[in-house]
Amino acid sequence: MAIKILAINGSYRRGGIIDQAVEAACAGARAAGAETSTVFLSEKPVEFCLNCRSCTQEPGEKRGACVQDDGMAGLLDLAEGADGLIIAAPVNFFNVTAVTRRFMERLVPYAYWPWGAKTPAMRLKKQAKKAVLITSSAMPSLLGRAATGALRALKGIAGTFGAASAGTLYIGLAATEEKQRLPAWDASLAEKLGRKLGSGA
Ligand SMILES: Cc1cc2nc3c(=O)[nH]c(=O)nc-3n(C[C@H](O)[C@H](O)[C@H](O)COP(=O)(O)O)c2cc1C
Repeated sequence: MAIKILAINGSYRRGGIIDQAVEAACAGARAAGAETSTVFLSEKPVEFCLNCRSCTQEPGEKRGACVQDDGMAGLLDLAEGADGLIIAAPVNFFNVTAVTRRFMERLVPYAYWPWGAKTPAMRLKKQAKKAVLITSSAMPSLLGRAATGALRALKGIAGTFGAASAGTLYIGLAATEEKQRLPAWDASLAEKLGRKLGSGA
């Protein structure tokens, strides 16, 4: 059976830099024999976390039940059913986009954190799957890696799903034109990372 790869895209722009990089990574995964699908977080009905912690009270590896009835459970089912993840978002104000952070906060059902416990314990400790992490910014990539929290945030999302990083791509100088083409170098790196993920390596 083909390996399933889910791409979670936290960009606001279809056809933008992140979208092009995600598509290059997906193409690489498909070339390695995997099946790919992509979700655009900005197009999904996902509410803000209420911090009620209802979902964190019961022990166990299974994610807790959220009180909200929106598109989040469907997204989490897709992510849990995938063998590998591509998690991508551009930098806005030195970190991932708000829609990506909103998604990240809604991952709290993967924490066991009953009232009385000082800190949460993550339910999925085994790094059973891999994730490719992609971000982009106006500033050059070396500076962006050091000065923004984007890759750390994407790594946090991956870890919450029990996924270890299979590689990162930071695309710098990504805001010079309205319809900027993804540079061939970055496209090739995205393709390689996707191929690795799709081959299950
Ligand atoms: C509201 C906003 C905030 C931004 N903040 C930053 C920033 O803090 N640092 C940076 O280098 N680029 C910043 N950028 C540039 C974006 O990172 C860049 O446009 C994005 O990576 C392109 O990705 P996309 O084509 O998928 O939208 C910002 C852009 C916008 C619109």
